[in-house]
Amino acid sequence: MLYIGVDLGTSAVKLLLMDENGGIEKIVSREYPLEFPYPGWSQQKPEDWWEQTLEGLKELTEQADKSKIAGISFGGQMHGLVVLDKDDNVIRPAILWNDGRTTKQTEYLNNVIGKDKLSQYTANIAFAGFTAPKLLWMKENEKDLFAKIDKIMLPKDYIAYKLSGVHCTDVSDASGMLLFDVKNKCWSKEMMEICSVREEQLAKIFESYEVVGTIKPELARELGFPETVKIIAGAGDNAAAAVGTGTVGNGRCNISLGTSGTIFISSRDFCVDANNALHAFAHADGNYHLMGCMLSAASCNKWWMEDIIGTSDYAAEQKAIVNLGMNNVFFLPYLMGERSPHNNPDARAMFIGMSMDTTRADMTQAVLEGVAFGIRDSFEVARSLGIDIKKTKICGGGAKSPLWKKIIANVLGISVQVIESEEGPGYGGAMLAAVGCGQFASVDEAAEKLVKVVDTIEPEEKLVGAYEEKYQKFKKLYPTVKSLF
Ligand code: XUL
Repeated sequence: MLYIGVDLGTSAVKLLLMDENGGIEKIVSREYPLEFPYPGWSQQKPEDWWEQTLEGLKELTEQADKSKIAGISFGGQMHGLVVLDKDDNVIRPAILWNDGRTTKQTEYLNNVIGKDKLSQYTANIAFAGFTAPKLLWMKENEKDLFAKIDKIMLPKDYIAYKLSGVHCTDVSDASGMLLFDVKNKCWSKEMMEICSVREEQLAKIFESYEVVGTIKPELARELGFPETVKIIAGAGDNAAAAVGTGTVGNGRCNISLGTSGTIFISSRDFCVDANNALHAFAHADGNYHLMGCMLSAASCNKWWMEDIIGTSDYAAEQKAIVNLGMNNVFFLPYLMGERSPHNNPDARAMFIGMSMDTTRADMTQAVLEGVAFGIRDSFEVARSLGIDIKKTKICGGGAKSPLWKKIIANVLGISVQVIESEEGPGYGGAMLAAVGCGQFASVDEAAEKLVKVVDTIEPEEKLVGAYEEKYQKFKKLYPTVKSLF
């Protein structure tokens, strides 16, 4: 049997074809534009996602034995607001997870409704990128469009809807809407009321590994797939990546260095950070997790490499970096504002500490280190909750860099385990499809059988010490410059 994982990312959709033994037969990637119509805004057209996913499915399976395709599932960029009218037309471009336009609505939710109430209803507080503040923004700024909303959905759920005709979502992705009671895994009546949303507008909720329906017959014909192909709910990209790296069950950790940077801690039981600095979400394995999310991670490096110094040879730039732990340049990685732990959409990036002898390599190094320090900020929050993390998996585009993995291992002082493929969400999506089709009894079993650690980067005492000193300085930078933003 063959299973397809669709990773609906921010820069591209990546599709992965997996056989029943977990072997990756093919990966294809198709890009789509990202719009920044005003500073801090971030939008994409759901129609572009669908067009590229459909073309991607064709390309992915052109040489495969299509009769063996059993299921399709997803890992999708989280929190994005997709709204359809009663004729299923997209009402406006999707407002993405890294969009910062909702400062006012986020403040209203946190300060007028109150963090305690939000946390009681949803296990989380409001962050600018979450879905509920975006609904309030639409209600206030696009009244006529708001009145037309028939269906509210998340990015990957739009693709599941186009494929199956079922308005569905899964518990992990729903957790990031601030409309979902994470503990009880149902929509929150209080939050629906606060956001002027009716339950009929929201999707039916599934566990990530559950079948939501089958592929529409006309699409099966167009793609040459069997009409029995199952559509499985899938997960938010971080939960899917956690599945893809075997971060399931209790107390395991995964770091994702994608457009965003996340630290994800799986938990058997429902748990919530008393200060809500980490997100308390449901996991794709049927349990829960805590997560810290930085809005710009590998995207900082991409911006620095491609937009600023104008190269696509990342490896050559990193080769020139020789003084780990001794860099005097710091980079604050807040190119799109920051979520965890600062919750400040108006924060901005900065280089600090240059002198006449600062080199291009020092600046590149500062970017990689700044992202690692940002991850450490969330790691420290987890530590303060008594969570003891000794090792982590790693995935995402940034995880391709041996140097960056070494920096992460030493900035956090923990072992970094590399698995066979860094395709976290796509592989996790395919695994969820396999579980939904009955190939494995549970997500745990799939992870146990399919995920293989191929390398471990151990922290080095001297470097950990040097980075500890640097981190103590980095920690002081944001509070010092905060008033400028
Ligand atoms: C997580 C988050 C990002 C996106 C990236 O809360 O906002 O990691 O899911 O696609």
